[in-house]
Amino acid sequence: MALATTPSLLSVSSIHTLKRSYNSGLLSKNSTIQIALIGAGGMGTQDTYAVLAHAGVKLVAVCDLYQGHLDTATSRWGNDIFTTRDYKEILALPEVDAVIIGTPDHWHKQISIDAMYAGKHVYCEKPMVHSLEEGYDVINAQRKTGKVFMVGSQGLSSLGNEKARELLAQGAIGDINYAEGFWARRSPTGAWQYNIPEDASTETVDWDTFLSNTHKRDFDPMRFFRWRNYRDYGTGMSGDLFVHLFSSLHFITNSYGPDQIYASGGLRYWNDGREVPDVMLGVFDYPETPQHPAFNLSLRCNFVDGTSGTTYLRIVGSEGAMDVQWDKVIVRRNAESFETDPYLATQAKDSSFSNTVARKKMKPQEEIVYEAEKGYLGAHHDHFGNWLTAIRGGQSVVEDAVFGYRAAAPALACNDSYYQDKAILWDPKNMKLKK
Ligand SMILES: NC(=O)c1ccc[n+]([C@@H]2O[C@H](COP(=O)([O-])OP(=O)(O)OC[C@H]3O[C@@H](n4cnc5c(N)ncnc54)[C@H](O)[C@@H]3O)[C@@H](O)[C@H]2O)c1
Repeated sequence: MALATTPSLLSVSSIHTLKRSYNSGLLSKNSTIQIALIGAGGMGTQDTYAVLAHAGVKLVAVCDLYQGHLDTATSRWGNDIFTTRDYKEILALPEVDAVIIGTPDHWHKQISIDAMYAGKHVYCEKPMVHSLEEGYDVINAQRKTGKVFMVGSQGLSSLGNEKARELLAQGAIGDINYAEGFWARRSPTGAWQYNIPEDASTETVDWDTFLSNTHKRDFDPMRFFRWRNYRDYGTGMSGDLFVHLFSSLHFITNSYGPDQIYASGGLRYWNDGREVPDVMLGVFDYPETPQHPAFNLSLRCNFVDGTSGTTYLRIVGSEGAMDVQWDKVIVRRNAESFETDPYLATQAKDSSFSNTVARKKMKPQEEIVYEAEKGYLGAHHDHFGNWLTAIRGGQSVVEDAVFGYRAAAPALACNDSYYQDKAILWDPKNMKLKK
């Protein structure tokens, strides 16, 4: 196995620094890239700050359906930015080179497609689409227009994800056979009970446009400001959170995705009218491919978790396991798997058994930590760096429409499994439901 030739993995409890050098020459090479933000809520605003931290980027326009967010945008970024409630007015501006789409999930597909056909490059927040059926339209628009299109699962551009990918390829944990991810939350905000602004009304909110691609209803500020809780707009725990782990996992393993998807869960606590579970489990079978052996994935999300605050992605192989974070990877390997197996260790203590098995000492587990060096600007910064480099004609982006769809599909199929109470069979290579 390649591991034997990887000296750094043979030390016990060693710490390594992950480095990133920023190529400011490339970033400032060409003229300024003028961007617009469509959907100026929490993430769209963070995205805008992240892209503006790069050289040669200017924000020229902002679109939102809530007046309060447009007002905040001008107080943040200046009165000279163009603001509107109609994203098509943004797409009609010739000076806009690229857009960030930070709307709720049910608008991702249409705005992405319209933007690419209007000649704009796109950064679309995750999940790329709201339902399985929508994926091909975005892929086709990207192929036809040739625009740079990238989905916003920023973690896969991180030093941590890149290192995990390299370590797995080197055989640091042997052959992958299992992976797991987990989110534990407990707070109202963590469970998507956001504040409703006092001025919320049909005057300040363009409710008709919000609903124009889904079911018509009377104005309901809960649905507008807490859209994650409703199936017409959001994609539940799996579309919101599991999708990040699919993106990272697929990047690290070079995988196309699972072929069987099973979900379970329930609404246990946050009975506020929401239509989505607050505890969800997903089990995913990854078939063998030329890139990796067959493995299983288990994902969990709990919004009523008294322990609170835990999130992780762990990849388990025949020789060890990796905990993957955006700025850190911890590799753990059993020094000698036979002697550290708890069952065999107990047996070895038994006198009759000890006649046949020589008793050995427990050896410490090897632990190798890879940590980003101080001053690392983080996954979000790196993700936008990759997008801008591609727009300027550098390398293509990893998280394009095909990658984005392959990450969104199992998350969306997880919801389908939950609501339809059956396993979903998926062809990850050809990106189609199996009959
Ligand atoms: N990458 C990440 O880590 C991350 C984190 C949080 C959210 N997100 C994603 O970002 C997106 C936005 O989430 P959020 O938490 O910022 O929600 P939010 O409710 O805070 O923001 C959404 C904004 O979109 C506006 N909007 C709704 N429909 C619109 C339309 N048709 N045209 C223009 N504006 C419209 C709303 O008024 C609101 O200001 C979601 O897709 C979410 O999954 C990604």
